[in-house]
Amino acid sequence: MSQSADSSAPTKDNPYQSKLLVNRLLTAGSDKETRHFELSLEGSSLSYEPGDSLGVIPQNSPQVVDDLLKAVGLTGEERVQIGEASLTLRDSLTFRLACTTLSKIQIKKFNEFAKSDKLTDLLLPANRDAFADYLWGRELIDLFSEFPQQGMSADDFVGLLRPMPPRLYSIASSIKAHEEQVHLTVAIVRYDTHGRKREGVCSSYLADRVGTNIPSYFHPNKNFKLPQDGNVPIIMVGPGTGIAPFRSFIEERRAVGSTGKNWLFFGDRSSKTDYLYGEEWEKYRSDGLLTELDLAWSRDQAEKEYVQHKMLTKGPELFAWLQDGAYFYVCGDASRMAKDVDLALRQIAATEGGMSEEDAAKWVKSLQKEKRYLKDVY
Ligand SMILES: Cc1cc2nc3c(=O)[nH]c(=O)nc-3n(C[C@H](O)[C@H](O)[C@H](O)COP(=O)(O)OP(=O)(O)OC[C@H]3O[C@@H](n4cnc5c(N)ncnc54)[C@H](O)[C@@H]3O)c2cc1C
Ligand SMILES: NC(=O)c1ccc[n+]([C@@H]2O[C@H](COP(=O)([O-])OP(=O)(O)OC[C@H]3O[C@@H](n4cnc5c(N)ncnc54)[C@H](OP(=O)(O)O)[C@@H]3O)[C@@H](O)[C@H]2O)c1
Repeated sequence: MSQSADSSAPTKDNPYQSKLLVNRLLTAGSDKETRHFELSLEGSSLSYEPGDSLGVIPQNSPQVVDDLLKAVGLTGEERVQIGEASLTLRDSLTFRLACTTLSKIQIKKFNEFAKSDKLTDLLLPANRDAFADYLWGRELIDLFSEFPQQGMSADDFVGLLRPMPPRLYSIASSIKAHEEQVHLTVAIVRYDTHGRKREGVCSSYLADRVGTNIPSYFHPNKNFKLPQDGNVPIIMVGPGTGIAPFRSFIEERRAVGSTGKNWLFFGDRSSKTDYLYGEEWEKYRSDGLLTELDLAWSRDQAEKEYVQHKMLTKGPELFAWLQDGAYFYVCGDASRMAKDVDLALRQIAATEGGMSEEDAAKWVKSLQKEKRYLKDVY
């Protein structure tokens, strides 16, 4: 059992200060930025298992805090109460409060001050779609820029904000392969909306702003574990950052000497720039630990090629592995990828197992019931 199940284990309210050892770009030359992080657990006796996640408590960037203070018309030196603590507004915004996200509730509260006809209208239930369009890509600062509120008190301003939520990251290492370390694979969120450069709070904190220590805690996931029996074959589908737990799985299987077959489906934009941990996978393939490796590069040719397309071309083998008792794992994007992979699995069952659409769906459900079809999607 991991240390995190222990009552003395770090939590989001009492995090472990983990030293950052490595921050390495994995996607040199790509228009996407995915990074590998190594954090130290030295001397802590903390541990984790493959499939678990790490919770990270980020800080807002000084630029975001400055811009927001300017837009609200406050200095940051005002004192405010956050729970039991009395802090400066600047510290509250940096360490304790979510400054960028925007929800319907926040806009409602904001409009108690702004009394804007436009916002009142957008908040009507009949205008749900228009409201969703308005919200898209907007942050709190955009409200203050559009509806200036000079004179709002620091307490009223803080009343609009939610506590800073931690972010979870699937662990990308086995502690058996990297003693007293935990590794992460993080896509750094950077984009432009409404004329302003934006950054994901936690991914940019990890990439650009962490000092020596990262406040973190373990988030165990008992529903995404390797089979107890090391002889059981596993199929792993992990495009993009979805690769993270599978690096952990394969390192663990090597460390404990599991003999079960391992099959990885990985995909990303380009083979030249986005093959995350490519050298490691190629080595695992050549030394036989990885029995099968299928790669889908979405932007190396005119037609998109995704992991589920590779699954479909290998339908007979994939179905045979599953009939042989293989576990099937999916990690990464929940909104599109995981649904398309699920559909591909049902198509394979129908074609290879000679099943009706309905029976194929039942068969896939039965894999889930047997806890052989496991997802870590976000
Ligand atoms: C169990 C679990 C495991 C996870 N594992 C990983 C992992 O291994 N690696 C990983 O990288 N992430 C992982 N995540 C996601 C991670 O927790 C964060 O959500 C992610 O890093 C973004 O956080 P952030 O603070 O950088 O961005 P935030 O500040 O939270 O901003 C993200 C928001 O920005 C907005 N946004 C993003 N891009 C655009 C755009 N182009 N246009 C307009 N708006 C946009 C969206 O509203 C989005 O929700 C995992 C999540 C879960 C729940
Ligand atoms: N702001 C940015 O610059 C930026 C960049 C990348 C990711 N992100 C965000 O970061 C998060 C994680 O990114 P990630 O690296 O894990 O993954 P990702 O970039 O979303 O995708 C990884 C791979 O999956 C492909 N893909 C897209 N749709 C798919 C589908 N329906 N089925 C199967 N594969 C599909 C992508 O292809 P295509 O992209 O070619 O379609 C890409 O090749 C995502 O939430 C994403 O929104 C932000």
